[in-house]
Order: sequence, then structure tokens, then C-alpha cells
Amino acid sequence: MKEQLEQIRARALAELAGGATAEQIENVRVRVLGRGGEITDIMRRMREVPEAERPAIGQLANQIKRDIEARIEGLADSHRLAALEKSLSEGSIDVTLPGVRIPRGRLHPVTQIMEQMLDIFVEMGFEIVFTRDIEDDFHNFAALNFPPDHPAREMQDSFFLSGGLLLRTHTSNGQIRVMEGRKPPLAVVCPGTCYRRDELSVRASPMFHQIEGFMVDRTGIVTMANLKGVLAEFARSFYGSEVAVRFRASYFPFTEPSIELDVSCVLCKGAGCRVCKHTGWTEIMGCGMIHPNVMRAVNYDPARYQGFAFGFGVERAALLKLQVDDMRLFFENDLRFLAQF
Ligand code: DAH
Repeated sequence: MKEQLEQIRARALAELAGGATAEQIENVRVRVLGRGGEITDIMRRMREVPEAERPAIGQLANQIKRDIEARIEGLADSHRLAALEKSLSEGSIDVTLPGVRIPRGRLHPVTQIMEQMLDIFVEMGFEIVFTRDIEDDFHNFAALNFPPDHPAREMQDSFFLSGGLLLRTHTSNGQIRVMEGRKPPLAVVCPGTCYRRDELSVRASPMFHQIEGFMVDRTGIVTMANLKGVLAEFARSFYGSEVAVRFRASYFPFTEPSIELDVSCVLCKGAGCRVCKHTGWTEIMGCGMIHPNVMRAVNYDPARYQGFAFGFGVERAALLKLQVDDMRLFFENDLRFLAQF
């Protein structure tokens, strides 16, 4: 029985060598130390041992049990250590590495310019009202004094939708939308997107932005002097206090008289260059006193109310202000371009 015990020990310790896997260790544990295991079996057969030898055999059996348990404990420790070391080396984090940079977004340059412009009008007391992109003929043309088949409509060829609707060709529909729902005094700017059947080019785009504005009050309160004051103030705030402004006679169906506003070329400061076609001036907007027919279209009595209106393209202004020479850049959404503003 003594030899049997020594054999059990020798075999178990041989199997519990340094390289034993967790599974092998568990197998040895069950086979040797388990309930129906080899050591238990020896204990049960103790009766077969002569009485005098029993204590020695019992001690030996317990000793072997403790040896094997100690061995298993030792192996389990080194297994845990190895596992820890493995996970540390595989999943290691180098806290000194630079992090993944999340690029910072920003507003589109056209939006930035539009907000700068609106800020100037808001400071002068104007209210911002957004109206609609899909419009009917009345609000885009007829109420703005474009008679049916009038050649002025051809200056603004639109995208027509079904049901007599179209994509607005200018933000002047905002004048009609606001005035027909409210009574003066009004000082309003209507920013927004406009659409025309133009080819995309260096100077034009079929989709672009405008800001329309108008101020209306009782006759004699909002005059042409106010128009000149407000718009000259806007031009100087936006392009710089050194710019010169000039008002030129023009034609629009919805204003009488109609005017165009020029500023001295911001690139050559009036000396003459390619951008201003060597005139020293750049046109920045159309404006004028609101036509009596427009007042009638929104049920205002033209003898009682008077006001001015203006409208201009945001991209054109952005080209000048940001010194960009191709409008297409604004719509290509190339981050290398956009990130510069
Ligand atoms: N709606 C005109 C356009 O798109 C711009 C304009 C000119 C608006 C004169 C006005 C104005 O209100 O008085 O070309």
C-alpha cells in the first residue's frame, strides 16, 4: 500500500510539471484528490493494512494529499500570473500616444457671411423672418408687379413645379408674405435660398442665397433718405468704413424709383482692377421705394403707406469679402477650402 501511495504521488507530480494546462491540472485533482479519487480509495481500504502500519500509511496518505494540493496551488498561481502578464502585454495602452483628433466643425462660409450681414440689420432694428422656398406665381411675381408675360420675368427663369408652384427666384416673396399678414410699421429682413435656371459658373449658381429687406410706415416717415442712410450704413459696416458708396438709377418692377447700390471696389480700393472691370466700383444690391402696385397687392393703401425695399445675393458678397474668385467653391464642399474660413 505504501508503494501504491508513492506511485500515486510520483505520477501526479510528474503530470503536474511546469507546463501543465489548467485542464490537465483539474484532471489530476479530480483523479487523485476527488471523492472517488485514488487517495480516498486508499483510505477506504485501510482495513487491509496490518494495524501497526495504519498510522504510518495514514500519515503518508495525508502528506501526499497536502503535497499535491500545494503543487496544484502553486501551478494555479503561476497560471494566473501568466494570464495577467499576457493581458497586460496584449491589451497594453500607451498613455503617451496622441489621441484620435476629432476635427472641429464650423459654419459654412456662406452661412457665416449671412449671419454677419443679418447682425448688422438686427442692430439697426430689423426683424428676421424666414418665409418659403416653394412659392406660387402671385407671391414670386404677380404681387411684385410682374404682369403676366412681362419680359422682366425672363430675367428670373425659374424651376416650375406642378400645381402652379415654383422655386422662388428671389427672396422678394418675403415682402409679400410678411406684409399681407401684418400692418406697418415694419422693418424686416428675409434671408433664404433662391433658385434660377442659370448654369453653375464662376459668378453664378442655380441655387444661391439672398437677403431681402424692407421698411414700411405711414407716408412721410420712411423716405428715400432713410433708404440711403440704412444701406450706406450697412455697406460701411460690412465692407469697412473706408468704402465709398454710390446710388445709381435702375429698374425693377417692384420699386419706383429703382436704384442700384455700388461700393468702391474692395480689392483695388477704387483704382480699377479685373474684378471691378476697371470701373473702381462693384454693384452690391438693388433697392428702391416700394411700388404702389405692390402696396395694393397686399391691401395697403399706397396713399397712406410708404417704404423702401432692397435685395442682394449673399454669395456674390461673400466672394468679395472673402476674396474668393470662383463661386463653385462654395458648393463643392471640399473641406480643404471650407476649413480656411
Ligand atoms: N429681387 C431682386 C433680384 O433678385 C433684388 C431686389 C432689387 C430686391 C430691388 C429688392 C429691390 O427688394 O428693391 O434681383
